[in-house]
Parts: sequence; C-alpha cells; structure tokens
Amino acid sequence: YTAEIDASEIEKGTYPHYMLKEIDEQPLVVRRIIQEYQNEAGELEINADILEAMNEADRIYIIAAGTSYHAGLVGKHFIEKMAQIPVEVHVSSEFGYNMPLLSEKPLFIFITQSGETADSRAVLVHIKELGYNALTITNVAGSTLSREADYTLLLHAGPEIAVASTKAYTAQMAVLAILADVTARSKGLMQNLDLVKELGIVANGMEVLCDAKEEMEEIAWQYLTTTRNAFFIGRGLDYFVGLEGSLKLKEISYIQAEGFAGGELKHGTIALIEDGTPVIALATQEHVNLSIRGNVKEVAARGANPCIISMKGLEADDDRYVIPVVNELLSPLVSVIPLQLISYYAALHRDCDVDKPRNLAKSVTVE
Ligand code: G6P
Repeated sequence: YTAEIDASEIEKGTYPHYMLKEIDEQPLVVRRIIQEYQNEAGELEINADILEAMNEADRIYIIAAGTSYHAGLVGKHFIEKMAQIPVEVHVSSEFGYNMPLLSEKPLFIFITQSGETADSRAVLVHIKELGYNALTITNVAGSTLSREADYTLLLHAGPEIAVASTKAYTAQMAVLAILADVTARSKGLMQNLDLVKELGIVANGMEVLCDAKEEMEEIAWQYLTTTRNAFFIGRGLDYFVGLEGSLKLKEISYIQAEGFAGGELKHGTIALIEDGTPVIALATQEHVNLSIRGNVKEVAARGANPCIISMKGLEADDDRYVIPVVNELLSPLVSVIPLQLISYYAALHRDCDVDKPRNLAKSVTVE
C-alpha cells in the first residue's frame, strides 16, 4: 500500500508549528467529512455492511487509547442518544486484562488516529479469535487496525503530524455522529436534527474560534503562565471535552492538569484548590448550566481562579469566552478548540517543544 498524500498537507507552510496548522484545518476537515459521507442525493451514507453490523449488535464496545478514547466517550453519547444502542467505552490497555462480561451480540469499534496503536491492536487480535466483528475508525487507510478489522471508516483528516492530536479528535467525533445518525435512520428512528446542516454550522463555529487566537493567547497568559496545576470541569459532554482539554495541556505544556465531572470535584479533589488555582469550566449544555455554575462558585469560594467558557445563549456576565451556538449534541467539536489553543499558547509561553513533547510518540507500537 502506498499512501497518496498531497505534499501541501505535510508541510507547515507559514505556520510556526504543525499543531497550530492542524487546529486551523478543523473546519475544512469537517466539511470534507460531510462530502465524503454524502451520496449523490446529498444524504449521509454508510457502507451497508457496517450498517447491518450496527443493527445486529445488542451492544457496542468502543476500544481506544488517549485522545481517541476521549472521542469514544463522546461517540457513546451520540450512538446511545441517536441510535439507541447501548455502548461501553474502554481503554484498550485495560480491556485485554480486565475484559467485561460481553453481551450476546457485541460489535467492537476501534478508534485510532494512526491505526497502529499496539494496545488497541492486541484487543482486536483477541476479539477476532473469539469470532467477533470489528469496525476500525482511523485516519490511515491500509493501517494495521484497518486491515485486520472487518470494516473501516476513514477520518479524512489528512496527515496529522503534531504529536498532540487535534484535527483527528474532531474528525473522530464527526464520523461517529454520522455513524450514529445513519444507523438511527436505518432503524426508522426519527431524528430531530439535520446532521449535514448542523455539521455545517459546526464548521462555521470552528472558524470563528480559529480566528480568536489572540483571545486564547490572552487566556493562556492570564491563567497558565506560572501555575503548577490546572483543573477542567464540566458536566455531561462538557466533562468529556474537559478530559481532552486537560490531556492537551499536560501533553504539551507539562502543567499537571485534570478533568473532572463538575459534581464529582467536591468529593475529594476540591482539597487541591488553592488561592489562584486555574479552573477552566465548560458550560455548553443547557440542562446542566445552573449546576456547573454552582460548581464554579464552590471552587471560587475556595480561592480558585475560574475561567468559564460557555455557549451563546447560556452565557453569564463574567464568562471569559462565549463560543458560537451549535447544536448542543455537537458542541464538543467546537468547545474543544479554545482548549486546544489555550494549551498551545501555554506551551509556547513556557518554551516547550509544541510539536514534539518530551516522552511522547505519535503512535505507540509497544504494549
Ligand atoms: C499516543 C499519542 C496520543 C494518542 C494515542 C492513541 O499515546 O501520543 O496522542 O491519542 O497514542 O493513538 P491512536 O493513533 O490510536 O489514536
């Protein structure tokens, strides 16, 4: 297999870092994904064999590592909400050793940017031996996990060079949303969202955020230049994005960061809040807007320095940044961008090697 890669896709051009270039490519990638998964009539389409496998499954097991695991958490939400199939999400390195009790007709979905992660491959080999079906969602056609699975869905994100994953994460969520939507329709479940239209709105929202680099640099400067640690809080989908935001910050700026479910912080971790500790809170979900704001008050009362990033329509006076409105279900695709940019600028200010952070590799091919 020889990959056909457009040279412009692997050159930095005028960008100082691949990571910044890849962050900026996200609106384009979402638009490309819509096109790639549209049929001639303009409807979203998924290969019939994959749909059949989705429809036959009584439970889906998503297996992934790192950022791809975080995309899987959001994917579970999409598949359960839209297609009404129960989903479990597992870290691949744990699944092999602590396999849960499987349902009668499981379908395995492997999410992997590189398609080469050894921890994920070990699970794939094992479940194939047990006779189960597997779908790989990957950015690399012809990669090991793509070849060894029964089915593949491609991310079409173009080569991702920076070690810290950005555009592959949003591409994974977009493809998972399409998979959930098309499966739901094939089951006759009425969808009250027009996904093509909503993903178009997402791409526009992403563009607004990619243009807000100065504001993001200011936030990084204000909250993260000297701090030892930082916390990300959110509820529901915002919690999952917070996990990814904290991973980005750890990976490239070496600031110790943790993501927490807003309501869980008080059960122990709040002991770590000191005077000035940055707490970045996401508020993009209407049904938990008041409760996450309550959690922000709890940490602020203990001296934390809160930075609330909310969605238009849910904002309050002292929010630090307000992202454009998108469909609530798809908000992770947009709300992650400020967190990617804040991490990028925090790393720059701290003189870190943004594209090649210490101790990390783009794809980890040992278990
Ligand atoms: C490595 C990378 C992470 C990535 C993870 C999973 O640890 O440093 O950025 O999220 O592998 O990679 P995959 O290619 O399977 O998505």
